[in-house]
Amino acid sequence: MMKKVYAAITAIEAWYPPDILTNADLEKMVDTTDKWIVSRTGIKERRILRGPDKGTSELAVPAVKKLLEKTGTSPKEIDMVICTTVTPDMFFPSTANIISDKVGITNAFSFDMAAACSGFVYMLAVASKFIETGSAKKIICIGADKMSSITDYTDRSTCPLFGDAAGAVLLEPCTEFGIMDHILRTDGSGRHHLYMKAGGSQRPASHETVDAHEHFIFQEGQTVFKMAVSKMADVSVEMMEKHQIPADKVWLVPHQANLRIITAVAKRMGLDPKRVMINIQKYGNTTTATIPLVIYEYEKKLRKGDPLILSSFGGGFTWGSVYLTWAYDPE
Ligand code: ACO
Repeated sequence: MMKKVYAAITAIEAWYPPDILTNADLEKMVDTTDKWIVSRTGIKERRILRGPDKGTSELAVPAVKKLLEKTGTSPKEIDMVICTTVTPDMFFPSTANIISDKVGITNAFSFDMAAACSGFVYMLAVASKFIETGSAKKIICIGADKMSSITDYTDRSTCPLFGDAAGAVLLEPCTEFGIMDHILRTDGSGRHHLYMKAGGSQRPASHETVDAHEHFIFQEGQTVFKMAVSKMADVSVEMMEKHQIPADKVWLVPHQANLRIITAVAKRMGLDPKRVMINIQKYGNTTTATIPLVIYEYEKKLRKGDPLILSSFGGGFTWGSVYLTWAYDPE
């Protein structure tokens, strides 16, 4: 009998810009304090991509280049590139096309996927099907966002939250380890609580929309907070129980939107804080990049076979979890 093929993460890389925006910097820009930001969100600083004409692809390209170099992969060997982002370089072409061009990937098809903060888990689920069916052998999945480009730095309720970064993984077939399962959910009625009001076809850019700050993130924080805690916990617990993953073995990889959300989800799963990947204090919410960026920073702690539950909640509303087993030991 043919062995089942899984899509395994065989390498991971990330990149964030050198410029740091601290809470002390924000204290000078809006009516806020370091104490409020740390106690309400857990965030101490975030990275900002500065300079003219630099879009999200500029964050992703260094991560993808490092990924190719590290694995000794020629760009010509890549079959498929997916980029998930809410801040594409432009409406079209896809940021994935731009990244592919900038790194010399010429034998692949590439496209963007949008599911706000849940983009990375949605993307892994989609990409895994191409590996499992044998129609792709090497896929690069990128989560990248230049959130500073849609953050209103006069709005104290949102500007402390977001930052810029990119993360990328190489997916390859493996008969032992890889993406085992996913639970993905959407509730489009949540779209009124977290969105960008203008700039799309419904409300194209105009003087009026710019004056009204409608090209920035709009969020009703408390509504989103409550939904994020309950929905992220639901899918994470469901995944852990479905696969009977022991609490002392699992790694929870939560989307990094708010430390209080992460702590509440971990508590409902009955996890020791040591089993939870956290780096929100350094980068804030980098939307689609949070999950690969935090795994990248914990890579050396991971061992072959370790169970990971990736879990996210974001605009849409979208949420979901992916269960995967780690495919390699540290070098
Ligand atoms: N500094 C000081 N005070 C502030 C600040 C600030 N930066 N921001 C808000 N406040 C004030 C408010 O004005 C309010 O004052 P009031 O009581 O006098 O009206 C008070 O602090 C409490 O405000 P809340 O909005 O109720 O604060 P909350 O505890 O809910 O924290 C936050 C806000 C951090 C945004 C939280 O609601 C949150 O994290 N929400 C979820 C975020 C999330 O998960 N998003 C999904 C992913 S993002 C994506 O998909 C793109």
